[in-house]
Amino acid sequence: MTLAMLSGRGIQSALEPAGEHAERIASLWDVFLGVSAVVYVLVIAFLFLALFRRRREDSADRSRSAFLAVSISTVLTTLVLFGLLVSSIVTGRRLAQMPAHALSVTVTGRQWWWQVDYESADPSKRVTSANELTIPAGVPVRVQLQSSDVVHSFWVPNLHGKQDLIPGHENAILLEASRPGVYRGQCAEFCGYQHAKMALWVNVLDPKDYERWIAAERATSRIPATPEQRKGQEIFMSSPCPLCHNIQGTDASGRTGPDLTHIASRRSIAAATLPNNRGNLAGWILDPQHVKPGSFMPPMVLEQGELEPLLTYLESLR
Ligand code: CUA
Repeated sequence: MTLAMLSGRGIQSALEPAGEHAERIASLWDVFLGVSAVVYVLVIAFLFLALFRRRREDSADRSRSAFLAVSISTVLTTLVLFGLLVSSIVTGRRLAQMPAHALSVTVTGRQWWWQVDYESADPSKRVTSANELTIPAGVPVRVQLQSSDVVHSFWVPNLHGKQDLIPGHENAILLEASRPGVYRGQCAEFCGYQHAKMALWVNVLDPKDYERWIAAERATSRIPATPEQRKGQEIFMSSPCPLCHNIQGTDASGRTGPDLTHIASRRSIAAATLPNNRGNLAGWILDPQHVKPGSFMPPMVLEQGELEPLLTYLESLR
């Protein structure tokens, strides 16, 4: 069963907007669909009319009415296209507006996962996470988009349209979710072998819950509380894991892989590829190339009896 199925309908749908921007895009889509449908019906109607109408004998009369029909349809086509162009420009301009007081989050595209940095004027309050973007409902959030390797595209259809993440160039997109919920986003630009498994979750929380959540994220990782957790931490620290992964408050400070400080509080692993549970975590650690061939996570070689404490430790990182 996939995460999408578990979480119910409409969690990745441009037709079920959950924010002002997506609503504008959906309205524009409705206008285009309506106008195109009417034009299509008219064209087919006139086609049948032309097919079954009896020919008039008078050729001068026929060429006059043909001229009239072509003129009218040319003018109508121009007007309709112009109308669509204007509605599209108006929508585009509204979508491009950026308020100055928005919350700021930086999302970095990487092959094939998302790094998420919650910005703050106070460096000690900066939070780094991965593959999950948590934002408060009803608050504008400016998402700065950048890439560390190739071009990716950030797309959360329930909240907004697509925006590219380009190496060496910063883009931005404004998200403002109207209600709490969970929405799925997807990389929408082919970026290599695992492009299809480069998804993310957007958790929209009530603003009060968001404050609690960000305060918990700012805390360093939990100190192992049981012998099993302590053993797991030792295994983690003596393995190659810390070379790529950071766990705040420990010696693990790698930056090439996702930050694991609060990994147990995330709903998925491997960029929304698998639900985050003990079994999937074990499979991912032992054989990541089976789950996501070509990913930069190497398989872990563990001694007998090392896997269970390691999982227990990772599961304690709430
Ligand atoms: Cu990243 Cu496609």
